[in-house]
Amino acid sequence: ARLSIGVIVGSARKGSINQKLAEALMKLGGPEVDFKQLKIEDLPLFNQDLEEPVPAPVERFRKEIRASDGLLFITPEYNRSTTPLLLNAISWGSRPYAQSSFAGKPGAIAGTSGGIIRTAAAQAHLRDILGVVGVHLTIQPEAYVHWTDELVAEDGSIPSEQQRELLKRKVDSVVAWVGQVSGSAAKKAA
Ligand code: FNR
Repeated sequence: ARLSIGVIVGSARKGSINQKLAEALMKLGGPEVDFKQLKIEDLPLFNQDLEEPVPAPVERFRKEIRASDGLLFITPEYNRSTTPLLLNAISWGSRPYAQSSFAGKPGAIAGTSGGIIRTAAAQAHLRDILGVVGVHLTIQPEAYVHWTDELVAEDGSIPSEQQRELLKRKVDSVVAWVGQVSGSAAKKAA
């Protein structure tokens, strides 16, 4: 069966460079993987008072996480950390207490900015948080992507062969990791 990897992007703005990066990464996947972007911008702002009854978009999001074999997080950098949009989604997915939808999911992180450290600080924070909610991350090769408007073409392709190869290695590593973890889970179940 094809692997399903949910892609979660920490920016919902029109023209988001992280959205463009996400689309380019999804295109680099081979026939063994289905990437599906998970919508997070309709999740309400997290508040414990809203947890019961579960808001419909939250229920959908949790189901999509559970149905994914793995997850790929694409984060912008805000003030050397990740974004409130992404943190909000993680808060919802991590609840109820001890029932995190993320538990045991293999995953990876990438991100882009025009800034000098190219989301390295944002990704470091995000790694800590995702570890806490139960995502099993593969880190290498790291993908701190320096954004330029030439990086991704209109159609989502990556014109530079060097950049394309680097990003393809990232995609291949997350696909291999998700395949490895979900393969051993399937073996245990059998
Ligand atoms: C930023 N930006 C930014 N960039 C960076 O490299 N390091 C940082 O710490 C920050 N901090 C920051 C804070 C806030 C509140 C905003 C709005 C922006 C710039 C950021 O990388 C840029 O706006 C990107 O375009 C955001 O990603 P998307 O939305 O284009 O995907």
